[in-house]
Amino acid sequence: MHAKVVVVGSLNMDLIVRMPRFPVAGETLAGHGFATAAGGKGANQAVAAARLGATVAMVGCVGDDAHGAELRAGLLAEGIDCTAVATTPGVATGIATILVDDAGQNAIVIVAGGNGEMSAERLAGHDALLQAADIVIAQLEVPLATVEATLLRAHQLGRTVILNPAPAVGPLPAHWYGLIDYLIPNESEAALLTGIAVDSPRSAHQAAQQLLACGAKRVLITLGSQGVFYADGERHLHLPVEPVVAVDTTAAGDTFVGGFAAGLAEGLPLESAIRLGQQAAALAVTRPGAQPSIPHRHELPA
Ligand code: RIB
Ligand code: NA
Repeated sequence: MHAKVVVVGSLNMDLIVRMPRFPVAGETLAGHGFATAAGGKGANQAVAAARLGATVAMVGCVGDDAHGAELRAGLLAEGIDCTAVATTPGVATGIATILVDDAGQNAIVIVAGGNGEMSAERLAGHDALLQAADIVIAQLEVPLATVEATLLRAHQLGRTVILNPAPAVGPLPAHWYGLIDYLIPNESEAALLTGIAVDSPRSAHQAAQQLLACGAKRVLITLGSQGVFYADGERHLHLPVEPVVAVDTTAAGDTFVGGFAAGLAEGLPLESAIRLGQQAAALAVTRPGAQPSIPHRHELPA
């Protein structure tokens, strides 16, 4: 019996615009591609965990509009429990406008919309889900008071607590660290949390030591094409990745987090759970769009 994963977080419709270069203020520029795709860090992580084999429930909010209905239907189609995905009247569903230039760089503007309605009070109404969970995952696209309430309650219940501190907003409150079993930042987030420029396994090691000293039990720093650096109080490892041709890195980190959680839920040893997340993320970056790019378990090497 697989353990149950609960994700407390965001759902966004991603509005993806491709253009030769970024516009400057006041300029009108002709783009050459537009697509929408289901996204949002919370929902992406829920989809990754589900496609990689976990039993998943999502806690979040969408607006009373077509985007919200589409995002909910997408999660339901993955077999994700959406009883705790509320539809909040009078607000738009969260969106992310993702500008991508011909060099493959992106610039993203997110508008929280419904995600801003995901309050700590609302979370308290879904306590039964946290009680039934084994692994609880949070990110930073819902109000920080809700993230804090999630970490506190999940820790109090003895659940395995994963925090992906994304998008990077600044230092984490000091009292959060002791509530976290797996803290999973990327390079820039790790840099923001520690003040250390993280661009290599060596600098990731330094940053991880500092995050452990703050009280996190285990730290995984994702390093893009340089793989993942793991550290706990006793050991540290660097797990490199095979090079891939990246088409769209949107949701690569989310795929890693969800895949890693699915591996833990299945009872895989730590390194195997990390490899599962890495293999899934490596495939996701070769395909466009956030949720559409996340692989199913059968697509990965055994
Ligand atoms: O992590 C990727 C996600 O971040 C995108 O899907 C977008 O919605 C933004 O929130
Ligand atoms: Na992708």
